[in-house]
Amino acid sequence: MKIVLASDHAGFALKEMLRRDLQKRGEQVFNLGVFDENAADYPDLAVLAALAVRKGEFDRGILVCGTGIGVSIMANKVQGIRAALCGDCFSARSARAHNDANILTLGARVVGPGLALDIVHVFLKTPFAGGRHQRRVEKIYLLEQQAKKQLDALENSSSSAD
Ligand code: RB5
Repeated sequence: MKIVLASDHAGFALKEMLRRDLQKRGEQVFNLGVFDENAADYPDLAVLAALAVRKGEFDRGILVCGTGIGVSIMANKVQGIRAALCGDCFSARSARAHNDANILTLGARVVGPGLALDIVHVFLKTPFAGGRHQRRVEKIYLLEQQAKKQLDALENSSSSAD
């Protein structure tokens, strides 16, 4: 499995710990940064990782910031991304099985390293359950497409009225 990792400064230490663990387990990990604890803006890192997952360059993404909220909000603005903020293993399992989440987000100031590792392992090993969940995930995709078309139309009509 190809996994992209990214964090801001608040998530740096946890992201590095996860990177070492995943590499030891033989996963193909790409570290997008950050590479130290200097202050960094979480949207910059989250959007790069989300775009790479969207393009199919990676199977999964793992994003870490202080709370996991900022990177989650950012990643979910990229079409085709289903980012799930998880603070427990049940949520991580459900995010994969029910929502086919392609990005996991974690809050380094919220979960300890042991729990974070368990969450990551559950997230990576749980397959999408399909069935009734397939239809629901497809609805997210279709609604996302419709919303984009409507926003584009609105933008075009407002610019032609200028
Ligand atoms: C950085 O201080 C913090 O705001 C950030 O890591 C994150 O928690 C934002 O959602």
